[in-house]
Formats: sequence, structure tokens, C-alpha cells
Amino acid sequence: MLAITAVMRYNSFKQDSECFLYAGANSKRGSNMKTLKTDRLILRGFRKSDLNDFYEYAKNPRVGPPAGWEPHASLQMTKSILKVFMEQDEVWAIVLRENKKVIGSVGLHKDEKRPDIHGKMLSYALSEDYWGRGLMTEAVKEVIAFAFCHDKLDILSVYHYPHNERSCRVIEKCGFVREGVLRSCSRIYNGVVMDNVCYSMLKAEYKRLYE
Ligand SMILES: CC(C)(COP(=O)(O)OP(=O)(O)OC[C@H]1O[C@@H](n2cnc3c(N)ncnc32)[C@H](O)[C@@H]1OP(=O)(O)O)[C@@H](O)C(=O)NCCC(=O)NCCS
Repeated sequence: MLAITAVMRYNSFKQDSECFLYAGANSKRGSNMKTLKTDRLILRGFRKSDLNDFYEYAKNPRVGPPAGWEPHASLQMTKSILKVFMEQDEVWAIVLRENKKVIGSVGLHKDEKRPDIHGKMLSYALSEDYWGRGLMTEAVKEVIAFAFCHDKLDILSVYHYPHNERSCRVIEKCGFVREGVLRSCSRIYNGVVMDNVCYSMLKAEYKRLYE
């Protein structure tokens, strides 16, 4: 989304995806993602062996578009994006403990709306097979704790497109504060310009809610 330096490019991608495909300006090789654990999930860096699981959910046209990214058209496309994820160290693979499958992703990225602030922006997507079980809320809460305790952020932001009510609920359940709607601020993969519903959590709010 938003940041020119941050947009992941894959062939004809023109998107500035709201919630998923970002390559950090300081990308490096190899996954240094800290592994995080919750009751039902393991969050860890993506691996080459995740290719089929990743493609399985990312090709679903109900998963990418609500987050602003194009459904994966081929295994090759997924492979290219997986490579970026493994290099950039911004996105965790969400592994369901009960079956060891990669069922989604959650990421922390530079927030191009707040370039000079010690903050990050959250992104996430989950395989449709697992929607409605509270899994993303569980993953996001763990990442929020990481963001404030490990990265020592001052602010964490998250955005959703106006009709993404599922994402809205995840954000509300995690305790983010609604800021308002930034109109016509992001162009997604298919050229459509979208509003962003904007939320954030300050360090003091995190402490009040989670500590
Ligand atoms: C958004 C997404 C991550 C939610 O994941 P999830 O694990 O299903 O989320 P949770 O189960 O924690 O919470 C979903 C909430 O949405 C609610 N919900 C489900 N369908 C809904 C609908 N049609 N309208 C409104 N709310 C809905 C659920 O009831 C639940 O709220 P509740 O706990 O108050 O009942 C998942 O749907 C997804 O990956 N969507 C596609 C990608 C995407 O939108 N990413 C976010 C971009 S900002």
C-alpha cells in the first residue's frame, strides 16, 4: 500500500495492497523472524516448504481482494512472493498447531502514512477454511504484544477497506482505536481507488489493555 519504496512488485502488479505485500526498504536475506506461540498457533518466518499451503489459500479470490491483493494466479506467482517474504522479515507464516499447515500470514510493516514515527502497520490474511474461529484475533494479539514489547513501538496502525467487516471485527476485538476514514487513498491491484478505515493503538493504550 501507499509507500512507493514499499510496494512489492511482481510482474504486472500495480497494486499498493492495503494489508499484505510489502517489501521493506532494508530487505535482507534469510528469515530472522522471531517465532511466536499462542494456544492454537505458531507464528514463524516463511519457508520454501510452505509453497503449496501458501498457494492453496492465496489463490482463493475471497482472500486477497479484501486485503487489496490479487489472487495468486499460479504456483510460480506464489513462489515469487514467498521469496520476498523470506527475504524481508516482515511477515510471519501462521501455522495451525493441530495440523501443522500454514493457514495465513500476519505482518508488521513500515507505515507509509507515518514515515517519521517509531511505529508500524499491521497486515493479515487467513485461509477461508479457517475463518470465524477467532484465529486471526489470536494471532494479531500476539503480534501486538511483540510490537510493543520487543520492537518497543510508540504506535501500531491498521487499516481496512470500508466493506471488510470481518477485518473490522478483528481490529475492534484487539482494542484498536478508530481514527476515521482516509478517503481515496489507495489504489489496489485492479486499479480501483479505495478509502481506508484507519485505526491505531498507542503504547499507553497497549499497556492499559494488555498488561
Ligand atoms: C479478516 C480475517 C483475517 C478474519 O479472520 P478470522 O480468523 O475469521 O477472524 P476472527 O474469527 O478472529 O473474527 C472474525 C469476526 O468477524 C465476524 N464476522 C464474520 N462474518 C462477518 C460478516 N459477514 N460481517 C460482519 N462480521 C462478520 C465474526 O463473527 C467475528 O466476530 P465475533 O468474534 O465478534 O463474532 C479473514 O476473514 C481474512 O483473511 N479475510 C481476507 C483477507 C483480509 O480481509 N485481510 C485483512 C485486510 S485489512
